[in-house]
Amino acid sequence: MPAHTSAPPHQFHRAIPPAATVPRHIAIVMDGNGRWAQRRHLPRVAGHARGLASVRRAAELCLTHGVSCLTLFAFSSENWRRPPDEVDFLMKLFHGALDREVDEMVRHDIRLRVIGNRARFSPRMQAAIAEAEARTAHGSALNLSIAADYGGRWDILQAVNRLRHADPAPDRDWHEEDLLPQLCLGDLPEPDLFIRTGGEQRISNFLLWQLAYAEFHFTDCLWPEFDAHAFASALTAFRQRERRFGRTSAQLTAAR
Ligand code: FPP
Repeated sequence: MPAHTSAPPHQFHRAIPPAATVPRHIAIVMDGNGRWAQRRHLPRVAGHARGLASVRRAAELCLTHGVSCLTLFAFSSENWRRPPDEVDFLMKLFHGALDREVDEMVRHDIRLRVIGNRARFSPRMQAAIAEAEARTAHGSALNLSIAADYGGRWDILQAVNRLRHADPAPDRDWHEEDLLPQLCLGDLPEPDLFIRTGGEQRISNFLLWQLAYAEFHFTDCLWPEFDAHAFASALTAFRQRERRFGRTSAQLTAAR
């Protein structure tokens, strides 16, 4: 084993989060905007505009229910493949939302961060993101993370590269606890609950590492219709899960 190897992997045990009836962290794939609009004979982008109202509502619901982290998949690394008009609309929608919503976020003690590869955003957009993050940096009621130009594989790779640059020792064995702080959201508890709206049941390259132990909740509800009732159903489903983290049911019962 190389001289500067720390604990071998089998000695690393991720702390099991305390059992909780309300998730500390919810991650959502907001799907179904396009279909919501098409069903009303509206252009797809009308669904995205309506989806923004659901973003606001989801943040408010987290504040009400005491969920401390909310991470929303707004634009994947793959979404650049959409028609240019739709991409352009989404960029304008994000930019406008950053301009308009930051005061409200400060008022509600929300910390905003945008996770993803920002390099492809326009300089104006990058500046607006940096300003919004700086203005909300002290928010402590809700960590609101917007994944934009984000991909789970990109996240893991950028974490590995940051680690290599921080400590370029060539023969070092890396462990989970080395990588974790380099990942996007490495300072937050991992998501307890993953929700995907819109009826599809896949992860779509969202938080691949961070969702390892999340409970998954899929709903047919389209994102613009994701309201207090749909949110409560997801929380109810979460409460009914037995989170074992590798242990047996009998062990959990004995520990109660
Ligand atoms: C997926 O639905 C949704 C998106 C790719 C964009 C999500 C954007 C928003 C909810 C709007 C604003 C968000 C922020 C954070 C400002 P889809 O278009 O794939 O729907 P479909 O599957 O019905 O076509």
